[in-house]
Amino acid sequence: MPEVETSNATDVVIKVEHLKKYFPVRRGTFARAKQFLHAVDDLNFEVKKGEVIALVGESGCGKTTTGKTLLRLYEPTDGKITFLNRDVTCIHSAQDRKWLHSKSQMIFQDPFESLNPRKTIFDIVSEPMNVQNEGNLKQREKKVMDILNRVGISPPDTFLWRYPHELSGGQRQRVAIARALVMNPEFVVADEPTSMLDVSIRTQVMTLMMELIHEMHMTFIYITHDLAVARYMADYISVMYLGKMVEYGKTEEIIQNPLHPYTKALISAVPVPDPEFKRKSIQIKGGIGKAIDPPKRCRFYERCPFAKDICAKEEPMLIDVGEGHKVACFLYSKN
Ligand SMILES: Nc1ncnc2c1ncn2[C@@H]1O[C@H](COP(=O)(O)OP(=O)(O)O)[C@@H](O)[C@H]1O
Ligand SMILES: [Mg+2]
Repeated sequence: MPEVETSNATDVVIKVEHLKKYFPVRRGTFARAKQFLHAVDDLNFEVKKGEVIALVGESGCGKTTTGKTLLRLYEPTDGKITFLNRDVTCIHSAQDRKWLHSKSQMIFQDPFESLNPRKTIFDIVSEPMNVQNEGNLKQREKKVMDILNRVGISPPDTFLWRYPHELSGGQRQRVAIARALVMNPEFVVADEPTSMLDVSIRTQVMTLMMELIHEMHMTFIYITHDLAVARYMADYISVMYLGKMVEYGKTEEIIQNPLHPYTKALISAVPVPDPEFKRKSIQIKGGIGKAIDPPKRCRFYERCPFAKDICAKEEPMLIDVGEGHKVACFLYSKN
């Protein structure tokens, strides 16, 4: 058993408190890092058993960094991560890491990069079992075949000894999903898992993941820049902007009643096939920047069409405006 603290929450799978991940920024060859990019800056949330949460926002807003830090592929700069009632903020031993990786997995964006080109499909998918010393060779082979079958790589025995380069992008991503799920993890982070695939097969892979999430009762964070995908996949949507969570709520509530100007702009950009659904289009200026030692003000200030004086002077907190719908914006908290 890993030597970690326990708390008494029951159905909470993962909880983060004041989670931060900063990257040092080096300017010039000999410059020492004096500045920090605040990729994830003070996130607070929890995911309960069986929930699917979509993390949405433009490229560069910190989604991947959040996912990797949650699974402890990155060391957090500050804050606390509690996973299955154990404090995993600091991992003290190989045993702790092994435990964490038996219960949590990540599916990466690019199936061309995430699969080792020198390993066979059997080696790739059975790797998590090797790490955990699970079963003998025969049992591993059976488990690999079962999961390959389940993700639509069939007949599985004709794929076992092939290499990733012999597979299409869609097949590779199915193999990556098989590897992530072979140990039946409690918690999975999928990082834009269909964005590198041909449009024609994206829906198939999304539908497959949706089925697996429900079949295996997984707790899931689905990262996407696409609100339509989030709407299809998730029970809750969390919108990120420059390392901050700016809005959070039930999926339909966020889609039908977005509050933060950034969420409204994201939704304006997505065609929603809903005839009685009228909303004003909101245009935002410029592109997403980088939060390098950001000033104490709303990170959306420069782009916001509704910015007020206070937005330039203070950072809005994420507050609950009713029934769990949370927003970090002075339009809803102070005048
Ligand atoms: N390993 C890293 N080292 C330095 N900066 C990074 C690293 N990973 C991400 N960043 C920076 O952190 C910010 C958030 O990146 P990322 O988490 O990849 O965003 P997203 O997944 O939403 O596109 C970006 O400004 C990015 O350039
Ligand atoms: Mg990313």
